[in-house]
Amino acid sequence: MGQKLIFDERPKDNRKDLFDREIEIEKIEKAVTSRKPLILILGVRRIGKTSVLQTALNELNENWILLDCRKLKENYSRRDIYTLIAQSLSRRIDKLKNVLEKINGISILGNQIEIKWKGRNYISLADLFDHLNEKRVIIAIDEAQKLRGPMSNEIKEAIAHAYDYDKNLTFILTGSEIGLLYDFLGVSNPKSPLYGRYYEEIVLERFDKEKSKEMLKRGFEELSFKVNDNVLEEIYEEFGGIPGWLVFAGLQYYSGKSLKELKEMAVQIALNEIENLLNRTPAKRRYKIVMKCIARGSDNWTKVKECLEKEEGSIISSSVLSNILNSLEKMSIIKDYTFLDPVYRDASMKLAVR
Ligand SMILES: Nc1ncnc2c1ncn2[C@@H]1O[C@H](COP(=O)(O)OP(=O)(O)OP(=O)(O)O)[C@@H](O)[C@H]1O
Ligand SMILES: [Mg+2]
Repeated sequence: MGQKLIFDERPKDNRKDLFDREIEIEKIEKAVTSRKPLILILGVRRIGKTSVLQTALNELNENWILLDCRKLKENYSRRDIYTLIAQSLSRRIDKLKNVLEKINGISILGNQIEIKWKGRNYISLADLFDHLNEKRVIIAIDEAQKLRGPMSNEIKEAIAHAYDYDKNLTFILTGSEIGLLYDFLGVSNPKSPLYGRYYEEIVLERFDKEKSKEMLKRGFEELSFKVNDNVLEEIYEEFGGIPGWLVFAGLQYYSGKSLKELKEMAVQIALNEIENLLNRTPAKRRYKIVMKCIARGSDNWTKVKECLEKEEGSIISSSVLSNILNSLEKMSIIKDYTFLDPVYRDASMKLAVR
């Protein structure tokens, strides 16, 4: 854990390197120390969820494991999720060895843990949680909406079981696609195992202008790099207080890129991300058109519908459009016909619709 600079693109893991977010970290730590079973950290991409999570985990004097679900492919298998859990346990083996070595279905080879995911000695997730419950353990799941898919019920059943019986466990889930995370959890869906469960929610918001400029200023100061106030101002205007973009912009500016160049780079990154996000959707082309329409100023239902119909040259049913808008909201790309990330908006203007 070497010291990082503000303008370091890796997620931060301690308060020294993190700008602001005291209140949010306080809330997480309070929820953990008061043994809340389920905590959510929510916010759009690049807002600092992983940084805040890691910082809180490192400060709390508790055992924890961290699963990065970004590593899971879309139709991940039982084997995939068990492997991910095994990896996260392996990284914390020094703290958890005495619990793990007693468990049938877990083998420890040096610093590597293997969990039986089928056959004889197979261990269910609920059983695994029951064993971990021998100690106080925080189970942090980064980008938990990625757990949706064929295994999702099994995982939710296990979390619901732990919620009710494993009082020593606390789950912290993060999600950048907030609607999808809610869908996964299904706390308001009577059919979900987690229906009706209470959870603590911490939302990370964008920094306002003043804070954004202060963060940039500190970042440049750390590098002993002099910049004019209008540069800070302009970066804020383009990137709208999302810390990950501020870090990106600061770093690129420091390395000699002009504001125009670095903005283009950011748009290119966003374009790639959008393509990837939309790969999961059945009617990718239509999604792109809708995003393009909104980016170009269609800011209500009628305007978006007109714009889409014009582009497609046909009448689009209301349910089709409403599905698309709904999904875009669940993916935390737009809300009320505005983009949550200004770079995504600018990228969407340029989306190639084929
Ligand atoms: N408060 C902060 N102070 C300093 N750097 C920050 C802060 N918040 C975020 N960053 C930086 O912004 C980038 C994104 O942060 P992080 O990965 O924690 O966000 P995230 O919400 O987890 O993003 P993603 O949704 O892409 O996973 C990283 O480079 C991180 O170092
Ligand atoms: Mg993250």
